[in-house]
Amino acid sequence: MGHNSEQVFRYLDQKRILYGNKIFLDTQTVSESVQNVESLESFKNSICECLKCELGYTRTNFVFGVGNPNADIVFVGEAPGEKEDLIGEPFVGRAGKLLDKILAAINLSREDIYICNVIKCRPPQNRDPLPKEVDLCEPYLKTQLSLINPKLIVALGRIAACTILRTKEPLKNLRNKIFKYEGIDLVVTYHPAALLRNPNFKKPAWEDFQMIRDKYLLQD
Ligand code: URA
Repeated sequence: MGHNSEQVFRYLDQKRILYGNKIFLDTQTVSESVQNVESLESFKNSICECLKCELGYTRTNFVFGVGNPNADIVFVGEAPGEKEDLIGEPFVGRAGKLLDKILAAINLSREDIYICNVIKCRPPQNRDPLPKEVDLCEPYLKTQLSLINPKLIVALGRIAACTILRTKEPLKNLRNKIFKYEGIDLVVTYHPAALLRNPNFKKPAWEDFQMIRDKYLLQD
């Protein structure tokens, strides 16, 4: 069952009255632990109890990310949905199944790549992430990227792309361009859920994935 923000704040206030400010110190420990991380696994363990924003109080699972820690390509979605929240893995619902098929078409599997989201906890009713949530969660993405050090980031969908690139451009203006994020090449394509909703997007999405294959996979 979800909790509204009033309930969450009442709960925190109760905790503070009972235990003093310890809970706030705990929160600080999470952000401090972002520094000096050695591996994705130890990083995950250091942040998976995060309560920096309200999403931490309504999530079922923290959805860190999965895949190859040495991947050349990192796919970044927006935020976990219902199924991802329940299972604790990104892109495990219908959109994820379609993503697996597209990856297979360019000879990739989940073991070859890394997949995560900008936001690690499910926003209630799958609403768009709030700017404050992005500000608090994005450093986790940046640390993941610095540990993986991929050749390419693929932003899946307008929300992920616009959040990362700090733009309000429509997705069609962001495709077919190479951006830089944290010094790494970044391209934008459709979110697989958009392809399920509108099959007309499948052709341009396939062109994006062919470009990814030709430019970043057939090089070695
Ligand atoms: N949509 C996303 O953006 N991310 C997921 O993990 C699942 C659906």
